[in-house]
Amino acid sequence: AMALGFAGCQKTASNEIPVGEFASLTGKEATFGQSSHEGTVLAVEQINEAGGVLGKKIKLLTEDNASKPGESANAVNKLIAKDGVVAILGEVASSRSLEAAPICQSAKIPMVSPASTNPKLTETGDYIFRVCFIDPFQGTVMANFAKNTLKEQNVAVFTDVKSDYSKGLAKFFKEGFTKAGGKIAAELDYNGGDKDFKGQLTAIKAANPDGVFVPGYYTDVALICIQAKEVGLNVPFYGGDGWESSKLTEIGKDAVEGEYFSTHYSPDAGGEKAKAFVEAYKKRYNGKAPDAMAALGYDSALILADAIKRAGGTEGDKIRDALAATKDFDAVTGKISINKQHDADKAAVIVQVKNGKFEYKETVKP
Ligand code: PHE
Repeated sequence: AMALGFAGCQKTASNEIPVGEFASLTGKEATFGQSSHEGTVLAVEQINEAGGVLGKKIKLLTEDNASKPGESANAVNKLIAKDGVVAILGEVASSRSLEAAPICQSAKIPMVSPASTNPKLTETGDYIFRVCFIDPFQGTVMANFAKNTLKEQNVAVFTDVKSDYSKGLAKFFKEGFTKAGGKIAAELDYNGGDKDFKGQLTAIKAANPDGVFVPGYYTDVALICIQAKEVGLNVPFYGGDGWESSKLTEIGKDAVEGEYFSTHYSPDAGGEKAKAFVEAYKKRYNGKAPDAMAALGYDSALILADAIKRAGGTEGDKIRDALAATKDFDAVTGKISINKQHDADKAAVIVQVKNGKFEYKETVKP
């Protein structure tokens, strides 16, 4: 009803609840947005088939930010002012969530990020939530993995300085690795979207590290792993959730074989809820297996629908309070309780690239 006050607004039928979504459906991180969107759509379809929420159907309004800076602000401004959405789902990449969050906060429209892990996001304000763990945890998980499982002593860190996610995760990894008794042999930077990493990789090779932590996104990571081999840097490479895309192995091929990364979910490690989700997703999307972003997109929509139900209405402050009270929600990526900071304390999984697939290795609890 709120949007009806705006001239030229797109009216939502009174038997529908408009929910916004912004995602990178195209551009550099297109697989992030496509996957989270597919998971979100599946959840909304299932919720509506089961009768909807508060006697109404959820109407999902999706905007593509093309993986570009500036476009997430445009997207949420439109969703709020023109479409009159009652809440917003998005984004995967932390920099794009950080761009949208202040707008949602000042409009008092609850925002639920499925997968952004930079801690700063939920510090924006009390209307901002996420259903995933944060990078101080993820960085520590990979630091301990490098030190204790891979038994490395000196490692290099290669950071995308254009990405809030990458800068944060690099910092938390370094802190964790030093705390575990290891040494940082070299720290080099790149800009996401670069095509030539050989200069920095040659400098890393000169520092003679046991391994290299790359907290980047899959398109860059695949090229980095290829070029590392070309400069003769043949040590293990590993990273975080930003590696997760079918494109990592499509582009990286042999150069990413055997490498490790941490992420939120593995279809091989879930309970009953996860099994049902994998089946429903495959059925809906031509046999395709869901990745972590798909599972988190699905969970973000379920958590929001559950909160609207408990709120008993669609006012922003009521949905906010209900989201904040989420406890032990049985989600595909694990039990979700929203903590004081409006984050979710959840386990991470570590996977290894094996024969072009992501093989489940272990689960690390917070
Ligand atoms: N956590 C990443 C970020 O904050 C995004 C991401 C989540 C990427 C899950 C892949 C899988 O930018």
